[in-house]
Amino acid sequence: MTLNFRRATASDIPAMSAIRLSVRENALSDPGRITRQMYEDHLEQLGRGWVCERDGAVIGFSFAAREDHSIWALFVAPGHEGLGAGKQLLLLAADWLFACGAQAVKLATAADTRADRFYQAQGWQRGAMKNDTEVAYLLAPHLRIRRAVPDDLDEMWAVFQPLLEGGDAFPFGAAFPKSTFELHWFSSQPPYVACDGGRIVGMYKMGANYPDHGAHVASATYAVARPAQGRGIGRLLVEHSLAQARREGFLAMQFNYVVGSNAAAMALYRKLGFAIAGTLPQAFRHRELGLVDAFVLHRFLEQE
Ligand SMILES: CC(C)(COP(=O)(O)OP(=O)(O)OC[C@H]1O[C@@H](n2cnc3c(N)ncnc32)[C@H](O)[C@@H]1OP(=O)(O)O)[C@@H](O)C(=O)NCCC(=O)NCCS
Repeated sequence: MTLNFRRATASDIPAMSAIRLSVRENALSDPGRITRQMYEDHLEQLGRGWVCERDGAVIGFSFAAREDHSIWALFVAPGHEGLGAGKQLLLLAADWLFACGAQAVKLATAADTRADRFYQAQGWQRGAMKNDTEVAYLLAPHLRIRRAVPDDLDEMWAVFQPLLEGGDAFPFGAAFPKSTFELHWFSSQPPYVACDGGRIVGMYKMGANYPDHGAHVASATYAVARPAQGRGIGRLLVEHSLAQARREGFLAMQFNYVVGSNAAAMALYRKLGFAIAGTLPQAFRHRELGLVDAFVLHRFLEQE
């Protein structure tokens, strides 16, 4: 028995669709939800697809989506599991996304299924639930998050300082001095950096929001280098900080001042379980939008 892997073409769509409809887990609640057009779009324009053949018949397929660096589909026909087809199809899709410049590749799958166990076995990082049924996964083999050291200061400043020029995320203006940045990042809450190879592409600091009677609640600040934004690094940093906060025994995480118009931060935090605990009306003077609301965000840190 040999397995043959190749790029998917439009003529594979009926076979892929039949496999998609035959699986027992991650089944489509509405079979009309994934259309022929969606397969066609993902073959070239929105991504790439691959099939696995056994004795000339398609037994599995995968698709990578270019725009959000995600695995759009990975399915192996019932009866052909356990042959290594899924593993290889996943590698083909993920490797293509890394070759396109992704720092992290993501996917979502139904929790507590065979697929859920499969992705963990392939070394993917299991993240938060995306909704009632699906769990998020990330693969970031080139990214490493570690404690920052004083020698990282210049590179961290090179990430942070350009973000201030936007005037849309932090209260500090463009003239905020490096010496105060150093004070904020190296003398209160412990800082962490995300490194792509040897290069710092993001960072966070996390620690108690208040001392003594408020010290069981953590707070954190995140920053991703502008060119590296939107590739999953922010999600990795927040998930890392949540895990770290749990390890340190914090019971909750609170962000004191999130600018409401900061779409990336608001989307990310809400996806990771934070709820708005309070509104600070017109608390932020946005460089372009004028006075906008800021929010206090909060979530409990149940032990996993
Ligand atoms: C906010 C910030 C940390 C997010 O990091 P990022 O690497 O850009 O975000 P990611 O690529 O990890 O995206 C995380 C999620 O948010 C979503 N998202 C990202 N940008 C978005 C946007 N502009 N609008 C809507 N959703 C967005 C992504 O789709 C992703 O969702 P998914 O994981 O379910 O697919 C980063 O953009 C940043 O440093 N911004 C400037 C500084 C800042 O705002 N810090 C926070 C201050 S409170």
